[in-house]
Amino acid sequence: MKVGIGILGGGTVGGALLQYLINEQKAIVAKTGLELEVRGVAVRSLSKTRSFPIPTGLITDQPEQLVDDPSVDLVVELMGGLEPAGDLVMQALQAGKPVVTANKELVATRGAELIRRAEEKGVSLLFEAAVGGGIPIIRPLSESLAGEQITRVLGIVNGTTNYILTRMSEGLGFAEALEEAQALGYAEADPTADVSGADAAAKTAILASLAFGTWVSVDGVYREGIESLDPVDLRYAADLGYLPKLLAIGEETPNGVSARVHPALVPLDHPLALVRGANNAVFIEGPQVGELLFMGPGAGGGPTATAVLGDIIDAARELLAEAQVAPRIRFAPGRLLDFGEVETKWYVRLEVADAPGVLALVAGTFGDAGVSIKSVWQEGRGEDATLLLITHDALESNQRAAVTALRSLEVVTEVAATIRVQSDEP
Ligand code: NAP
Ligand code: HSE
Repeated sequence: MKVGIGILGGGTVGGALLQYLINEQKAIVAKTGLELEVRGVAVRSLSKTRSFPIPTGLITDQPEQLVDDPSVDLVVELMGGLEPAGDLVMQALQAGKPVVTANKELVATRGAELIRRAEEKGVSLLFEAAVGGGIPIIRPLSESLAGEQITRVLGIVNGTTNYILTRMSEGLGFAEALEEAQALGYAEADPTADVSGADAAAKTAILASLAFGTWVSVDGVYREGIESLDPVDLRYAADLGYLPKLLAIGEETPNGVSARVHPALVPLDHPLALVRGANNAVFIEGPQVGELLFMGPGAGGGPTATAVLGDIIDAARELLAEAQVAPRIRFAPGRLLDFGEVETKWYVRLEVADAPGVLALVAGTFGDAGVSIKSVWQEGRGEDATLLLITHDALESNQRAAVTALRSLEVVTEVAATIRVQSDEP
C-alpha cells in the first residue's frame, strides 16, 4: 500500500533522504511491503544548485500547502530551527498527520506541547534522528527501556565538536577543523549551535526527559561550549593521560534531575576517549540493565536519513494499521538540580610564583572551600611556574568558590584554565 510523504527541507538530511527514497524504492518495498511515495519537497530557494537535484514535479517553496496537500499522509520535517518548522509540525499534527522530525532544537523547546498534541490527535511524533544521528537511541530509551529506572545518561552527542576536538588533538587549528566539519555536512546551519554546546544541550534535554520521565526543557540544561578551550591545555591534558570531549550528562539523584553539557577531560583508557571524528556514543545506566553503550555516526546526511527513514516506516505501518496510536511517553513533575548542587572534578591550571609555601597556600585554599586535591604537577621555576591540579569529586559550587579564592591570592598570577574531569573514580 502507498503512503504519501511530504518532506519539509531538502538540505543535507532532506537531500540524502530523498535520494534514498527515490533510488532504493524497490528495496524498501521488498523489505517492508511499503510504497513510500514522495509527494513534494519544500525548500527556501527553488534555484539553488543541489548535490542531489530535487525533481521539478516535487520541489516547492510553499511548505504550508505541502502539509495541507490531501495526497500527503505523513510529514517529515527537516528544515531545522524553531520557526516556521514548529508551526508546520503543529499544522500537520492538527490535521491528524503523523510527523517525523530530526529537529532537536524544536523537540527540546516545544516537545512537551507537540507530544501532547500528537497524543490528542492519536498520531505519532517521532524524532529518532534528533539525537545521535544514525544511532538508534530514542526508540531504545522510550520503548525497550521504558520500564527501567534509568540513573544516568552520559556521552558525546555532537559530531561537529567531537570532530573538531579530534582534529585539534591531531594538531589542526580550530578554524580549519570547523571548516572540515562543515564541508562534511556535520555542522548545523549556524555552527555556533554546535561550538557553543547549544545543539548538545537540546539533545541532552531530550535524552534526560525520556530517560527520567520528567520533562527537561533545553533551558534547564547547564551549558558550556568548546570555544574557550586553550590548545595549551589540550597538550597538558595529553601529557597527563586525558583527552578533551564535549560531554552530555543527565543524572537522576534522590534530590532531583541534573542535565548538563560542558567540555571535560576523560582518561585515555575511558571508552569515550576512543570515540573519534563525528561519531557519537551514549552510555545508559540503570539498576537492572547495568551499563549499555550506543555508538556510531552522530551526524551527516546518510546516517541521519537512515534514522529518519526508520521513523517513516514505523509511522507508515501505524497509518496502514489504521490504529489510534497509544501514548509513547508520559512525563511526571520532578525537581531540576542547580548545577552548583552537582559533584564534579576539576583540572585547574595556575600560573604562580614558585616560592616556598606557595603549594601549601594553594592546597589550603582548596581545602577551605571543601575541595580535596587528587594530583599536582609543576612546570617551570621562579617567577614563571605553572601548577596543574586535579581535584577529587566536590560540589561544583565549592570548586567555583575555591577558584574565586585562588584569584585573590598574591602568589597566583593567573587562574589560566579550569576544565571538568570525567572519570569514574571518586
Ligand atoms: P540544511 O542542510 O540547512 O537544510 C535545511 C533545508 O530546509 C534546506 O533545504 C532549506 O532550503 C530548507 N528550509 C529552511 N528554512 C526553510 C523555510 N523557511 N521554508 C522552506 N524551506 C526551508 O539542514 P540539515 O543539516 O539538513 O538539517 C536539517 C535538520 O536535521 C535540522 O533540524 C538539524 O538539526 C537536523 N539534523 C541534522 C544532522 C546533520 O548531520 N546535518 C544530523 C541530525 C539532525 P534551501 O535548501 O533552499 O536553503
Ligand atoms: N550538528 C550536529 C552535530 C548534527 O554535529 O552533531 C547532528 O545532530
